[in-house]
Amino acid sequence: MIKLRHVERNYPLAKGKFFYVLRDINLDIAEGEFVSIMGPSGAGKSSLLHILGMHDHAWTGEYFFGEAAVHHLKAKERSALRNEQIGFVFQQYHLLDDLTVYENLEIPLSYRQVSKTERAALVADTLDRFSIVGKKDLYPRQLSGGQQQLVGVARAIISNPKVILADEPTGNLHSSQGEEIMELFRKLNHEGTTIVQVTHSDKNASYGNRVIQLRDGFVVS
Ligand SMILES: Nc1ncnc2c1ncn2[C@@H]1O[C@H](COP(=O)(O)OP(=O)(O)OP(=O)(O)O)[C@@H](O)[C@H]1O
Ligand SMILES: [Mg+2]
Repeated sequence: MIKLRHVERNYPLAKGKFFYVLRDINLDIAEGEFVSIMGPSGAGKSSLLHILGMHDHAWTGEYFFGEAAVHHLKAKERSALRNEQIGFVFQQYHLLDDLTVYENLEIPLSYRQVSKTERAALVADTLDRFSIVGKKDLYPRQLSGGQQQLVGVARAIISNPKVILADEPTGNLHSSQGEEIMELFRKLNHEGTTIVQVTHSDKNASYGNRVIQLRDGFVVS
């Protein structure tokens, strides 16, 4: 499903030097896996997830997503692929400030061929599933951090993507809410969704089938 070969990401420093955030990353994630990426702060976990999520394009190497060679795709083709196949939970939520909760949840559906009535039904179901029906007309700034995180997770799963990429999806939640999200991921994974999560929690990692350890930009196990 996902294959990385010799992927590297760096940022230019002064005097023609580079800071390497990711070094020679080789990774194979099969369809239906539930993988956790772990490692210390600054190890490059979010950077890696943003490459997988096709948000970042300033890297070198090869990235195969299903049949697609992402490194050869044009920006438009990459966005189309991402919108069709990937649900992304951002570490910093990234909800659209000018849209209500309801409207934020509608966005991923607007990229798909989903009729207006079906869209309304899906948003209603999702609001219900995440117990945020009462928040549907509020804007992100009117929500607590944890509530924003729930909306971020809801937005990632609403269109039933083939792959979910989640960057510390429960970092701001009470432990029981975090467990509910992990149970939801487990259920989606059993239904065939491939999941890659970044987590600092051994408990969350135990929901997955495999851990990838990152240190200073290298995969160490
Ligand atoms: N725009 C940037 N310019 C320079 N360096 C950057 C930039 N963005 C990220 N980095 C560096 O890349 C490294 C990896 O960052 P990344 O956000 O991927 O870490 P992380 O493993 O997700 O950490 P955390 O657990 O704290 O979220 C860090 O050392 C960071 O300083
Ligand atoms: Mg991070």
